Amino acid sequence: MAKAKSQYVCQACGTVHAKWMGRCEGCGEWNTLVEEAAPDSPPGGLGQRRSGRGKRVEFVELSGQSEPQPRRVSGIAEFDRVCGGGLVGGSAVLVGGDPGIGKSTLALQVAARLSRQAGTTCAYISGEEAIDQVRLRARRLGLADSEVMLAAATSVRDIASALDASGAADVVVIDSIQTMYVDVLDSAPGTVSQVRAAAQELVRLAKVRGFTVVLVGHVTKEGLIAGPKVLEHMVDTVLYFEGERGHQFRILRAVKNRYGPTDEIGVFEMTDGGLVEVTNPSALFLAERRGHVAGAAVFAGMEGTRPVLVEIQALVANSALGTPRRAVVGWDSSRLSMVIAVLEARCGVLLGGKDVYLNVAGGLRVSEPAADLAVAAALISAAADDPVAEETVVFGEIGLSGEIRAVGQREQRLKEAAKLGFAAAWAPPQRSGRGKPATPEGIAVQEMGHLSDLVAR
Ligand code: TYD
Ligand code: MG
Repeated sequence: MAKAKSQYVCQACGTVHAKWMGRCEGCGEWNTLVEEAAPDSPPGGLGQRRSGRGKRVEFVELSGQSEPQPRRVSGIAEFDRVCGGGLVGGSAVLVGGDPGIGKSTLALQVAARLSRQAGTTCAYISGEEAIDQVRLRARRLGLADSEVMLAAATSVRDIASALDASGAADVVVIDSIQTMYVDVLDSAPGTVSQVRAAAQELVRLAKVRGFTVVLVGHVTKEGLIAGPKVLEHMVDTVLYFEGERGHQFRILRAVKNRYGPTDEIGVFEMTDGGLVEVTNPSALFLAERRGHVAGAAVFAGMEGTRPVLVEIQALVANSALGTPRRAVVGWDSSRLSMVIAVLEARCGVLLGGKDVYLNVAGGLRVSEPAADLAVAAALISAAADDPVAEETVVFGEIGLSGEIRAVGQREQRLKEAAKLGFAAAWAPPQRSGRGKPATPEGIAVQEMGHLSDLVAR
């Protein structure tokens, strides 16, 4: 008998290798390859099919009429907004995040709130916890009397027939996809092939029957179980649930959405009674601000459609090392190197021999280039041991020649700052020829055209 062939599949990205390697050639992760049985025969092309021609596909006019997709709104505004205004029937949503971050809690709360809406039935299928455990959690969340259909199952075949038998569910939560398996595959649950096959089947069911499937997926570093990355292309919406350990804030972020924008965030706070919506994140992120200290600047940022103020903290220290340390939390480290280089080359602020630490307070990840100026302000303030002027917000993008570029949503940023009691802003000059947009009342804007204006301030 021919020896059963095996292949080595990266559990982080799904790349298939013929032999074992320490590092995946696809994504560069270490120790993520796991041996799996190779499929018996590769899928044949069209040439192998003997039954001749396939069924003819019907073409229709693009201009034809289609019903707009109705959305199911949970009433948890932070969740609904991130989904693009509610869940779309027949779509698949992936909720990824580190273990213990609160995915199950979020999924249960959303399911309970949805099932309160008239005409919406929700099923919550747990592959990790027993029914009693889920009930216990529901009681803790004050959701014990909600009408969510509950099941503990891991076989996709069983789940499909259970959904058949129980009539129409409108929203089905699968917690987690890594515990699910399809019985036609030999590999263990949690491997790339099982996770993919199970997800594919569940997504297909959702499309055929018109329910929304919410797949919960753990992000893993160790590579023993497949991460949600391998599923991103299969689903319509990918949400990541993030948060710093030790912080009670949780941020739900859309990274892909066929039915809405992808830059929205939802902010929650993890409490004893579950996740609570944070409707004013700026106030939360600035709550622990110490005020007039060197090395801190308040950035007036935008997360999707919403302005969010956060404090950017910098520390500059003499380095004892040949290569000084650069440590960044919540921002892009190559962007930090660029700001440091521009400060050196264009303004003569020498940070090359110093250790530089940068932190976005509160556990938020900032990705906007508009944060450049706030980072520069924090760095200059830290290096000179001179606090940024009190009650001032900062925003603007820095170019390589040191020029400060205009950024979008200027008025909204200023409005949010004024609302929270800030009296001044350092901002890029307004583009000419557009008609001057109004500056909200109560805030004085100091325009800066070049980084040296900031240094000389
Ligand atoms: P959980 O939803 O089980 O995380 P995940 O499904 O992402 O693995 O959340 C687990 C954590 O949340 C756990 O550390 C306890 C905490 N928690 C609360 O603080 N309050 C609550 O009401 C609940 C249900 C959990
Ligand atoms: Mg869980």
